[in-house]
Amino acid sequence: MKLYIKTFGCQMNFYDSARMRDALRVLGYTDTEDPAEADILLLNTCHIREKASEKLFSEIGRLNKFKKKNALLIVAGCVVQADGEEILKRAHSVDIAVGPQNYHRLPELITRFNRSKGRLVLADFPAESKFDFLPESQATGASCFLAVQEGCDHFCSYCVVPYTRGCEYSRPADEILTEAKQLVRTGAKEIMLLGQNVNGWHGEGAKDLGDIIRMLAEIEGLERIRYTTSYPSEMTDNIITAHRDVPKLMPYIHLPIQSGSNTILKAMNRQYTREQYLDIIDRFRSVRPDIAISSDFIVGFPGETESDFQQTMDLVQQVEYASSFSFKFSARPGTPASIMKNQIAEPIKTERLIKLQELLLAQQKQFNLNTIGKTLDILLIEPGKTKGQISGYTPYLQNTHIIADSSLLGQIVKVKITSATATSLSGKLI
Ligand code: 5AD
Ligand code: SF4
Repeated sequence: MKLYIKTFGCQMNFYDSARMRDALRVLGYTDTEDPAEADILLLNTCHIREKASEKLFSEIGRLNKFKKKNALLIVAGCVVQADGEEILKRAHSVDIAVGPQNYHRLPELITRFNRSKGRLVLADFPAESKFDFLPESQATGASCFLAVQEGCDHFCSYCVVPYTRGCEYSRPADEILTEAKQLVRTGAKEIMLLGQNVNGWHGEGAKDLGDIIRMLAEIEGLERIRYTTSYPSEMTDNIITAHRDVPKLMPYIHLPIQSGSNTILKAMNRQYTREQYLDIIDRFRSVRPDIAISSDFIVGFPGETESDFQQTMDLVQQVEYASSFSFKFSARPGTPASIMKNQIAEPIKTERLIKLQELLLAQQKQFNLNTIGKTLDILLIEPGKTKGQISGYTPYLQNTHIIADSSLLGQIVKVKITSATATSLSGKLI
């Protein structure tokens, strides 16, 4: 039996898709890239901004054309958590809708559906942890995700995550270690530790994420460790100094600031100031001067003045980012910011986003240009776009293309960087 999965949104969703694949593999389902031959079509959805959930309905329309007569159409992810019943009402071809905390119950839901043919929605927050019931993880390639923490208690005024993913939960250290070993045994060389608030990890069996990183670094065969996403005021010295002490921890930190204006940060309910953020960046740079810094930004938050926006631009000038993600504020139903009075007009949001992205892209390009002539370790992950080419990532998470035999995939090789654009590097295998 064949399983077709399409994933939208963040890395946590890609991790979840891998775990659902593991759960369905036990029932005898193997992967297909062709929806027309699938017995199960699974869409893993994202609710973070408007466009993300619109995509779901256009994707369902597309899949209806391919869907075999008795194939199941399952919708998973954060849109289900927010609007499960609505999905079933609006899209008649959907058989099962399952929220992010219920993936371990997928096999049971499929059996129930097949028995009764009744359409099902499961989007509660169960008392048990899904991680206790999911089967062993298998590596999806040389670089794998591992969720160590999920959910968020920060309630930034614009964000749906605390409502769709629920409150913070940190997995115990021994469970993380066991899963990391499973991933390495099945082919992982790099593990990206995931959490909506990953540096706020506070589970059993370790002091903080810094200790988890130090513990994972002992695993033989694991070459690289990364983590994302961090929340500024939860950063600990033990995580920062791990960047000095643990060679396997890559020199890259994704630390979203969202806005450079303290007024806007306050309205967003972000629990730090611009000054505190800059201080954390300094501390990272003092232990690891070459560290690549990345961030998320929102422009056009309600009440954002030209001067607030200018403070974001100034902060970007000061930090010099290696990469970034930036968005126009999107009013999400049910969030406090969606009903704030002073909403910003769309053309102003667009204008600010263009200016900000121009600056960020120029910085990203400069960061990439600075690596020309250097020899860097590249973890080769996937075949390139053109024949004979393969690609992978530098320690700073720069996508790098080289001409080399595909038998090298999964290995870390030394590459001399010969050219760079804003989005990728090219180099020669040494
Ligand atoms: N509007 C725009 N961007 C948002 N993000 C989260 N919620 C919204 C929203 N309502 C962005 C933030 C966050 C990233 C994952 O998505 O920048 O860090
Ligand atoms: Fe959303 Fe804020 Fe939590 Fe990040 S920290 S997931 S932006 S509520």
